[in-house]
Amino acid sequence: WSTTARKRDGVLEVGGVPLPELAAVHGTPAYVLDEADFRARARTFRDGFAGYDVYYAGKAFLSVAVARWVAQEGLCLDVCSGGELTVAERAGVPMERVGFHGNNKTVAELERAVTLGVGRIVVDSFDEIERLGTITRELGRSARVMVRVTAGVEAHTHEFIATAHEDQKFGFSIASGAALEATRRVLATDGLELVGLHSHIGSQIFDTAGFEVAARRVLGLHQRVADELSHVMPEMDLGGGFGIAYTSQDEPAEPAHLAAGLTSIVEQECRARGIAVPHLSIEPGRAIVGPAMCTLYRVGTVKQVTLDAGAVRTYVSVDGGMSDNIRTALYDADYSCTLASRGSDAAPVLARVVGKHCEAGDIVVRDEFLPGDIAPGDLVAVPGTGAYCRSMSSNYNHALRPPVVAVVDGASRVIVRRETEDDLLATDVG
Ligand code: LLP
Repeated sequence: WSTTARKRDGVLEVGGVPLPELAAVHGTPAYVLDEADFRARARTFRDGFAGYDVYYAGKAFLSVAVARWVAQEGLCLDVCSGGELTVAERAGVPMERVGFHGNNKTVAELERAVTLGVGRIVVDSFDEIERLGTITRELGRSARVMVRVTAGVEAHTHEFIATAHEDQKFGFSIASGAALEATRRVLATDGLELVGLHSHIGSQIFDTAGFEVAARRVLGLHQRVADELSHVMPEMDLGGGFGIAYTSQDEPAEPAHLAAGLTSIVEQECRARGIAVPHLSIEPGRAIVGPAMCTLYRVGTVKQVTLDAGAVRTYVSVDGGMSDNIRTALYDADYSCTLASRGSDAAPVLARVVGKHCEAGDIVVRDEFLPGDIAPGDLVAVPGTGAYCRSMSSNYNHALRPPVVAVVDGASRVIVRRETEDDLLATDVG
């Protein structure tokens, strides 16, 4: 839950706004974004990682208002498509504070990024290095470039493997020599300025050892580029992926603690190698926006299903589902939820919160205990839906995407409006 979420007489409020009131004004389903919480988490990363540049990863969730908050709180912005770049532009984010990612950026996207003067373009293939060289030459511009490397570290929630994950589409492998060759080609291309290496090892990571192994390996290449190619890169990015608590078992580390660990590894390693410490940056997305948002649904039907073992499961159908949160179906992700509209003394029952889509896998919350008197008309809120829910939402079954309602100091404001059927039909040229 976001920090301002609390129950008053059983009614959940966020940002001082009771959610039944929010539902009455804005309808359901709705994403509820706690502005103060988002800004506080952004500042916690900014201050915890003092001396770093913190790029908010827009892929987790991006809108014009959020891009503005990011800039106001002193963060930079990571975008990974022309669409995200347009949001940054519309929000007035200074382009030198924008980083542009992607393993297959189009020529048009690259041309725009170069023309707008984005702060860094993270190149991910030899094709792209050549393409970007041609574009900067034709436009008579230059581009600041980072090389995305694969450190051979695969990090999952609670573990990491230091010898895996070469077999995926992102980056240039350090182990195979491709990464060194990529830096050589960038250096040999007029118009491209090689500013640093970039490593991103995964998402929803709790074990900091993965970051540390990756940092060491990336610094090894950093030094080789200095020694063999006589180019000292001023910067280095260690990526995002910092985990958040989806359930009570998850225990994420504090940003300041993460920063202390990473910084000391980098400093130690640079000292041992006799090289200057590069200016560091990171790219958290989920850890800033994930906990700041919850999704509010209205219950439509309640059904008891008898399981093979004779136990009963209560299926609670809500007015959204896999179109607004695909993560349960796609990643088997764990979410929790609570009755948001009233208190209840009824004994808890084992419930499954499902959506209104036409498939059995349309599950929002797999297992949760909810009051046994849960009924149509009740509101249910699912916390921790800020990251990769709205941004991965769809119009499956011609569902209308819910609005994003920002709440702060007792007031609510729509920052992304609900889609209408006209929006859906706008692209259907029949
Ligand atoms: N930087 C780069 C280069 C990335 O690829 C990503 C995420 C991030 C930063 C931000 O990672 P974060 O701090 O948010 O974990 N859809 C998946 C997550 C995919 C992450 C993709 N890249 C999910 O819902 O769990």
